[in-house]
Amino acid sequence: MLLIDGRVLAKITEEILMSNHRRKIAVIGAGNVGATCAFVLAQMKIADIVLLDIYEGFAKGKALDMSQNGQVLNYDGTITGTSDYNDIAGASVVVVTSGFPRQPGMTREDLIAKNAGIVKQVGEGIREHAPDSTIVMVTNPLDLMTYHMQKVTGFPAHRVCGQAGVLDSARMTHFVAQAVGCSEEDVQAMVLGGHGDTMVPLPRFTTVGGIAITHLLDEETIDAICKRTASGGGEIVKLLERGSAFYAPGSAAAIMAEAILNDRKRLIPASAHLTGQYGLDDVYIGVPVILGASGIERILELELTTNELESLQGSGNFYKSQLKELLGY
Ligand code: APR
Repeated sequence: MLLIDGRVLAKITEEILMSNHRRKIAVIGAGNVGATCAFVLAQMKIADIVLLDIYEGFAKGKALDMSQNGQVLNYDGTITGTSDYNDIAGASVVVVTSGFPRQPGMTREDLIAKNAGIVKQVGEGIREHAPDSTIVMVTNPLDLMTYHMQKVTGFPAHRVCGQAGVLDSARMTHFVAQAVGCSEEDVQAMVLGGHGDTMVPLPRFTTVGGIAITHLLDEETIDAICKRTASGGGEIVKLLERGSAFYAPGSAAAIMAEAILNDRKRLIPASAHLTGQYGLDDVYIGVPVILGASGIERILELELTTNELESLQGSGNFYKSQLKELLGY
């Protein structure tokens, strides 16, 4: 019998995968979130990676730094740094992280205008050079920028989705695991709604080993977890004092890119374009979806309580009014 060492087998599998397909994922924005996403994708060993930034040297430097870690990661794919959209040609998935977090003295409206301009420029580049790709948006304000990206590219709505629910659920998962005193692996959290103050954590649909947390934790603890989840990003901004979270956001975007690339059909919350589901129409908002090779392959409509539904609709209607007021849609 031929015995092959696990590491050698992993290497052979990776080489077959990489050489047969040379699949490509592009990450736009080589900043904190984009670089983390690229790094996690390299660890997954699923595709070549193109890291594009408006500052060419910045993207090239990060790509080279990561490439020099190839031996540690046992990764033989390429990581290319660039500012040239020609390099994203052939990418199956494009993760968009380019944009600014809110700076001191900047109003919410200023931030939206600034990031909307960036999304327009990036969207035009994707439309021209990776017209068959599926886009995972990360740029904030997430649900508005995802809607804007779909309009700029004109891609079918199922091929433009937003990363928010995976991150928000990961945050809730961490707090639940701490409160229950269990492994993070056994927690499945579900957070819907907008990626911001109006997010809707759903304790009834959050489980540990298949048991709803409403059977495991008291109401006060659950309330505290939901509040901390909703302000999870703000808590980190406060601690960091400069910049915002990037390890969990970058990893969450990588998880979505992998689900699309490998047609995993994962059931996860993501910002998707609604056309009547949950009583909401023509707005992007976080809902449970099946994510696979076609992007958002299905939107699941959960049976919500009146309170849960009202919260989700409140969140959706808030973003709908913002789309009109701030982006003119
Ligand atoms: N084209 C390409 N890249 C751009 C463009 C553009 N038009 N404009 C800005 N960038 C790049 C910047 O040069 C920078 O490297 O986007 C990157 C943003 O990185 P950071 O400033 O480090 O911001 P980051 O923390 O990564 O957050 C990016 O993700 O989570 C959201 O709120 C966050 O909207 C923000 C985005």
